[in-house]
Amino acid sequence: MSPESSAAPDAIGSLSGIAIVGTGSALPKRRVTNTDLESVMDTSDEWIAQRTGIRSRHIHDPEAGESTASLATLAGQHALKAAGMAADQLDLIVCGTMTPDMPTPGIANLLTASLGTRTIAAFDLNAACSGFVYAMNTAHALMTTAPYRNALVLGVDCVTRFCEFSTLGRTSAILFGDAGGACVLSATEDPSKGLIAQAMHSDGCGAQHLYIPTDKHMFLNAEDYDERKINRIVMHGSNIFKFAVSTFPKLIGQTLDKANLTPDDVDHYICHQSNARILSTARDRFNIPEDKFYINIDRFGNTVGASIPLILDQETRSGRIKPGDRVMFLAFGAGLTWASSLWRV
Ligand code: UT7
Repeated sequence: MSPESSAAPDAIGSLSGIAIVGTGSALPKRRVTNTDLESVMDTSDEWIAQRTGIRSRHIHDPEAGESTASLATLAGQHALKAAGMAADQLDLIVCGTMTPDMPTPGIANLLTASLGTRTIAAFDLNAACSGFVYAMNTAHALMTTAPYRNALVLGVDCVTRFCEFSTLGRTSAILFGDAGGACVLSATEDPSKGLIAQAMHSDGCGAQHLYIPTDKHMFLNAEDYDERKINRIVMHGSNIFKFAVSTFPKLIGQTLDKANLTPDDVDHYICHQSNARILSTARDRFNIPEDKFYINIDRFGNTVGASIPLILDQETRSGRIKPGDRVMFLAFGAGLTWASSLWRV
């Protein structure tokens, strides 16, 4: 890593737009199907597919060196390569994650070493499944007010380390998978590129619906208490389901209103992949065509903060997202949190 003095940029000056110039993603090697889960818990492929739309997910293997940091590094390297940018050109890293490998140091901090950046601003933020959307909005705000020209924004989670792969945890364990996704933001002279509208919300009154108790004193509902659930996801699925089904359409409407746009004006809706039924409800409410509203939960499950940048990467590489398109990112998650970010790319 070279010293800070070598290349800290001056003010952005005439660069008035912010472009997404590269995307990347990473998945653990191990793919686990619903049928595989049938051998460790009382469940069935049919139940999982019908209730969630999920068929398989990728699960990290710590023995093979896979971790939140390793997926973040790979996703970051792929995004930098796609951007044609060297790591020492980065000025900022913001990583949305709720599953750093250890309480400290954070993932963004470790990335400065694993990617080989200068001594730049780098930090994690925890907004659960909304983490990547919060990170995009935060990076954009910093880039427009401070001298950061190039930023790496990530959503990375290895949430399966908090899943109980037995019948005790079957309601939540079947939902989740691990992944990492990233994009590089770069200041540009083209003022048409960048954030058009955003919204960020948090309501701690709903915290008890989805949380991870770290010791016996941390159960948010007395009736949840069970020593076997320490360091395991505690989720009241139907409460989250109801919250999501009412929140996604409101969030789409709020973001369109802020931007003074109609649903047809947006070319791509990239939503957090929580449950196929939640996603299709939101899509139907606005009559959004299927080819504008991506659902890949069947292959990856709910990958928390990674689900949105994973789709962004896949759809950018496939050529479906083109320069000049309007892309809306939408997420909700534990906290409760919910957020949107509407970009012209
Ligand atoms: O990023 C945000 C993360 N969380 C979410 O998005 C969660 C949103 N919620 C959901 O997706 C759904 O609530 C779930 C898929 C988690 C659960 O679906 P549900 O329709 O709400 O099922 P349920 O929890 O009400 O359970 C229905 C039945 C129960 O049996 P009884 O009491 O009716 O006999 C459960 O014990 O299904 C049973 N069940 C299962 N059966 C087979 C629960 N989990 C399983 C399972 N396999 N894995």
